[in-house]
Amino acid sequence: MLKGNNLLCLLDLDRYDLQRLLDVSFSMKEKVMTNSVPKALEGKRIALYFEKPSTRTRISSELAISMMGGTAIVLSKNDVQLSRGEPIEDTARILGRMVHGIGARVLKHDTLQKLAEYSGRPTVNLLSDLSHPLQAITDFMTIKEIFGTLDKPIAFVGDGGDNVLVSLMAFVAKFGLELRVASPKEMRPRPEIWKRIEEEAEASQAIIEFYEDPYDAVKGVSVVYTDVWVSMGQEAEAQRRKEILSRYRVTEDLMRYTSSDSIFLHCLPAVRGEEVEQSVIDGKKSKVWDQAENRLYTAMSAFSLIY
Ligand code: CP
Ligand code: NVA
Repeated sequence: MLKGNNLLCLLDLDRYDLQRLLDVSFSMKEKVMTNSVPKALEGKRIALYFEKPSTRTRISSELAISMMGGTAIVLSKNDVQLSRGEPIEDTARILGRMVHGIGARVLKHDTLQKLAEYSGRPTVNLLSDLSHPLQAITDFMTIKEIFGTLDKPIAFVGDGGDNVLVSLMAFVAKFGLELRVASPKEMRPRPEIWKRIEEEAEASQAIIEFYEDPYDAVKGVSVVYTDVWVSMGQEAEAQRRKEILSRYRVTEDLMRYTSSDSIFLHCLPAVRGEEVEQSVIDGKKSKVWDQAENRLYTAMSAFSLIY
């Protein structure tokens, strides 16, 4: 079990629990390969609630729970009375009476807090507008798998306020790692979350730096990471965001300035030709399919440790 009851933001976990999440991800991978997955969720009923679409998270979460002997019930907002105005607090109370745990992908991070509070059940963030913790655990699992260490400089190129980036920053801050962010100066993490990241980074001596020029940011790094320019829920601002971010595309030319053994990562789904050139994501440095596969093992790790 993790010390906290919930997995809503990596900043809430201590380094020991983050390390356990990683270690168990590796051991789950081994167990899947050797057909010896533990029935860690035998008899457990878990509700997976989605307010936004999902491929990787939905598949990995549902499979992780059933592979470990639990029962997953997947609900989209339209399936439940929330869509007709039933309050989230009441929905959470009902879930709390019927299931042992909740995983949720929500438009507003606050919904996760309400689900956790009013259900009284362990709740896992499957992506919110603020963060995407399971993705960042997967990303560092992938980095460790490829380089044998977590301690490799990373450059994130794109939206400096991105939810996946916030979770990467939280992880980097906890472990004292190095992350350079190339983004327009009007795109930064929300001040309240940045304050917490900065405090953690100071304590661990992590380096998190912002650059306006992507070429400055990627110089010599081992990992280049990007995410879509228009996240789910930001559709109304799509045009403006694409204009502001047009310089922040990961191209083959940009990759030339990275370390010779560098890799490219993307949480996916990707828009080829926007945040990344097709030849990069489909090229030799791209590890996005290994990364996506690892979502299954980190889901198994997170759910076995939290429920
Ligand atoms: N990376 C990720 O969370 O993908 P999905 O939106 O498909 O779940
Ligand atoms: N930033 C993206 C991540 C998708 C996994 C989004 O929120 O749409």
